[in-house]
Amino acid sequence: MISLGFLILGLNFLSYQKSENERNNQTQTKNVFDEYCNDFNKSYHSKQEYGVRKEIFLKNLNAINKHNGNNSETYKMSINQFTDMTFKELYDLNYPDEGESSSKMDTTKYTSPETENLLSDSFEENVPDSFDWRNFDVISNIKDQKLCGSCFIYAVLEEIESQIKIKTNQSYEFSRQEILDCARKGYGSLGCSGGSLYGVHSYIKNRGGISEEKFYPYEAKENLCRSEKFPKIDIDLKGIKIFDTEDEDILKRALYTLGPITVIIDNLHDSFFRYSSGIYYEQECNESDAYSHAVVIIGYGSSNGKDYWTIKNSYGEKWGEKGYMRIARNQNNHCKISSFNMVTKL
Ligand SMILES: *[C@@H]1O[C@H](CO)[C@@H](O)[C@H](O)[C@H]1NC(C)=O
Ligand SMILES: *[C@@H]1O[C@H](CO)[C@@H](O)[C@H](O)[C@H]1NC(C)=O
Ligand SMILES: *[C@@H]1O[C@H](CO)[C@@H](O)[C@H](O)[C@H]1NC(C)=O
Ligand SMILES: *[C@@H]1O[C@H](CO)[C@@H](O)[C@H](O)[C@H]1NC(C)=O
Ligand SMILES: *[C@@H]1O[C@H](CO)[C@@H](O)[C@H](O)[C@H]1NC(C)=O
Repeated sequence: MISLGFLILGLNFLSYQKSENERNNQTQTKNVFDEYCNDFNKSYHSKQEYGVRKEIFLKNLNAINKHNGNNSETYKMSINQFTDMTFKELYDLNYPDEGESSSKMDTTKYTSPETENLLSDSFEENVPDSFDWRNFDVISNIKDQKLCGSCFIYAVLEEIESQIKIKTNQSYEFSRQEILDCARKGYGSLGCSGGSLYGVHSYIKNRGGISEEKFYPYEAKENLCRSEKFPKIDIDLKGIKIFDTEDEDILKRALYTLGPITVIIDNLHDSFFRYSSGIYYEQECNESDAYSHAVVIIGYGSSNGKDYWTIKNSYGEKWGEKGYMRIARNQNNHCKISSFNMVTKL
């Protein structure tokens, strides 16, 4: 079995130089797609679906190769679990159309736990040029939300886990599924169709804690609420600190002072799903209303004169830089990285 890393490299090099004839060579494309299905455990219900998925995959593969052949780009793309899906499917997964409530990343209309708006003068002034919370052993393993719009749960729980680790040196992995199942009515959650960051906090605050992943594991779909069956870890959430200054310098100081920070970004670009390495910069990542994806910022730095943020995503380890993305920093609030920032107060 050819290794995935080699496969990607091989494709990027080979298919880019192929003639149209060779590119249409059915034997070859069948092999490439079958390799993909094998590597990513893809199986389809019917021959028809196989055909449709294969066509989508080849189209995406072509775009990936084209991007990677452009040396002006600051990042690379690769095949991953999304390569057999259309952008429309990915868009709907992240940003489902639910009629009356247009934004699933609802940040305002929810009754929230006590919040505290911080003034930037409470953050460290002198911060290093680069910083990474992974070096302090407070960041847990990369997880995979799978094909369920539960990023809001992942981001908030990971940030709370980090805050607890910083404060008490205790490591927990809380149950994402409990929030998915139990924090629906009254918490602004639509399960796998998205939900409110505040709602996750409110749920934990009202319950006084949450159960652990090892007892109540993730199923990537909504199910009956079973919270009472499992032991609960007590958590006393004091509130949330919000800063939405659109000032990346304040965000940098806040990250250094407070710990990992939950942010909502605009990820509604096919390039985001195809990202594999380097510093992500998407020309079209500038729309004013697209708050579509919650992630956690864990660090920042510069590479070859380009500043970046490091974000921890929940698309598994095969996406991006082992599950992380470096994204352009000090480029006009790229993808709205400093437009909605939130950190838990314990
Ligand atoms: C198609 O690809 C296969 C496998 O690489 C190769 O053996 C065959 O000669 C190719 N056929 C054409 C017409 O290029
Ligand atoms: C595919 O399944 C195998 C066996 O269950 C597992 O080891 C592997 O990590 C899976 N691959 C992906 C991409 O999920
Ligand atoms: C290569 O990338 C640069 C930077 O994104 C872009 O401006 C340019 O249009 C691209 N070139 C091609 C041939 O796509
Ligand atoms: C924190 O916990 C880890 C093990 O989980 C231990 O190795 C380390 O010494 C602890 N650090 C402090 C400061 O207590
Ligand atoms: C975003 O960028 C694209 C491409 O550069 C441009 O066409 C579009 O008008 C921009 N949108 C906004 C809201 O600035």
